[in-house]
Amino acid sequence: MKVGIIGTGKLGSALGKIWAEKGHMIMFGSRDPQKAKNLASSIGSDASGGTYEEVAKFGDVIILAVPWSGAKESLKTAGDLDGKIIVDSTTTAAPHLGGPLKARTTSAAEKIAKWAVGAKIIKAVHTIGVESLNKLQFGSQQASLFICGDYFDAKSKVKQLGLDIGFDVIDVGPLTNARLIEPLGMLWIELAYKQGMGTDIAFKLLRRRKAK
Ligand SMILES: NC(=O)c1ccc[n+]([C@@H]2O[C@H](COP(=O)([O-])OP(=O)(O)OC[C@H]3O[C@@H](n4cnc5c(N)ncnc54)[C@H](OP(=O)(O)O)[C@@H]3O)[C@@H](O)[C@H]2O)c1
Repeated sequence: MKVGIIGTGKLGSALGKIWAEKGHMIMFGSRDPQKAKNLASSIGSDASGGTYEEVAKFGDVIILAVPWSGAKESLKTAGDLDGKIIVDSTTTAAPHLGGPLKARTTSAAEKIAKWAVGAKIIKAVHTIGVESLNKLQFGSQQASLFICGDYFDAKSKVKQLGLDIGFDVIDVGPLTNARLIEPLGMLWIELAYKQGMGTDIAFKLLRRRKAK
């Protein structure tokens, strides 16, 4: 798959490296294209680097790996996103959305869907620490990846990318259900940093039978 990654920070670079190793074609995008090119050459595959706009044109799937505070501007810079599959990985804090009560009537992913006109938004990758992406097996259990979105084709591609990394992928339904899974990202941060559990933690959905 051609995977475009917007943002060359910790998450974007880690995902790009792993997917490149799995044989996907990666293009990193940066506000400083040289930084993206350097990152691409450092992962030692045929990955490439460029601007956010070039990445948006390149990717079958585009990972938005920027802070919530930079999401709107980054999407604007990326240009025409009509028909694109975009994975919103932002771990948003409720206050950014206007407080906990308001957060339940919307989500970061739904706001992103309004900004990226015509794009197919999938919420994913916001409930895990980058340190765990190479070790998603916890004893006999695989970490869960919760994804949601409104487009079947987009979700299947993102699901495949999640399986390629080693996640147990859980489809949570439509994009409005980002309201349910975004708080899990906040819980992860609370447990890892404030409750002192550290970043080597992940969520797991336990079930007797695999869902269809
Ligand atoms: N780190 C994790 O463990 C983790 C896990 C799950 C989800 N996430 C989410 O993934 C997103 C990226 O996290 P990260 O840890 O990769 O962050 P990071 O290391 O700070 O990198 C973020 C990247 O976003 C780009 N960017 C665009 N607009 C920006 C702005 N206004 N301010 C700062 N950077 C901006 C920058 O790339 P360029 O300079 O190349 O444009 C920067 O390197 C966040 O929304 C985070 O909540 C992170």
